[in-house]
Amino acid sequence: MGSLDGRVAIVTGTSRGVGVGVARELLQEGATVVGCSRSPLPGLPGAADVPGGEQRSVQWVCDQGDYGSIDEFVARVVQTYGRIDILVNNAGGTVPSPSVDSVPPLVSRIQGAPSSDDDYERSVLFHAFAIQMNLISPLWFAIRVFRQMKHQDGVGSIVNISSGAGHPAGSPTLVSYGAAKSGLNHLTRSLAQEWGPKVRVNCLALGPTMTENFQSFVLPDDDKSGAKYFDNVPLKRAGDPSEVGRACVFLCSGEADFVNGTTVEVDGGMLPGVLYDAGLKTITDLL
Ligand SMILES: NC(=O)c1ccc[n+]([C@@H]2O[C@H](COP(=O)([O-])OP(=O)(O)OC[C@H]3O[C@@H](n4cnc5c(N)ncnc54)[C@H](OP(=O)(O)O)[C@@H]3O)[C@@H](O)[C@H]2O)c1
Repeated sequence: MGSLDGRVAIVTGTSRGVGVGVARELLQEGATVVGCSRSPLPGLPGAADVPGGEQRSVQWVCDQGDYGSIDEFVARVVQTYGRIDILVNNAGGTVPSPSVDSVPPLVSRIQGAPSSDDDYERSVLFHAFAIQMNLISPLWFAIRVFRQMKHQDGVGSIVNISSGAGHPAGSPTLVSYGAAKSGLNHLTRSLAQEWGPKVRVNCLALGPTMTENFQSFVLPDDDKSGAKYFDNVPLKRAGDPSEVGRACVFLCSGEADFVNGTTVEVDGGMLPGVLYDAGLKTITDLL
């Protein structure tokens, strides 16, 4: 018996990184998981590691930058599985930029933002993209899923994946991303108030979490385990995607029935600001 037996969950951004760990933990607890990403994949990565996981999962294409694509994707989930109990708004992320007013072409390219040879245009488009992907698209997804959940029996659960960069102390090098994540924390509380008692809405603010991209673009080449990098984090390491997944399981299970509108930090007790300088070094070395 799992704590999410019979639940139908959407997890966004499951082709790699944190989303894979989240999807796997939900599967482990008995949920059926529909993952998505822009790139087509034959199945949900990691599902084969869980008994029955391949039978209880699919991976479909959805571009969360397009509200029409979100609409079609959610309609297909309902058509196939009959309901949606859980949404984990995970897709998002960014790349640190040494200056907010002049975003280097490489930073923009790694982020996947619209390109431009014009320095000003490239910078403003980079920030618009960060806010779209980390604030507006999760709101679009939540709205579309709520429009289904409000007609169902039971209580739905939405979990937004935020970041320590959203802390009120500010986030130099991650200016638009931090503002978007701060907005996501705020939006979580507002939606919880609007959508209770039909749906609970909560948020997880992650600290550094070990993914393929984190290893390539954040950890320095001479410190790939992060032993030096994490010296200022009380637990002296990055989080693992599975640890984010277990926090999602808690928020979506009956154990958290009275937890609503809150942001839980999953960051090893890191204080704000301790990693901004270190986090820029690998990108600066690449430039
Ligand atoms: N890793 C960390 O240290 C860390 C720290 C704090 C917060 N977070 C947050 O955790 C979440 C996941 O981050 P991550 O590190 O796992 O990122 P990641 O490794 O870059 O993975 C992002 C996932 O989102 C998908 N995605 C990107 N754009 C999309 C779009 N327009 N529509 C649908 N899917 C899209 C990607 O697949 P495709 O490219 O194939 O579409 C991929 O599966 C993000 O919200 C991030 O802000 C991460």
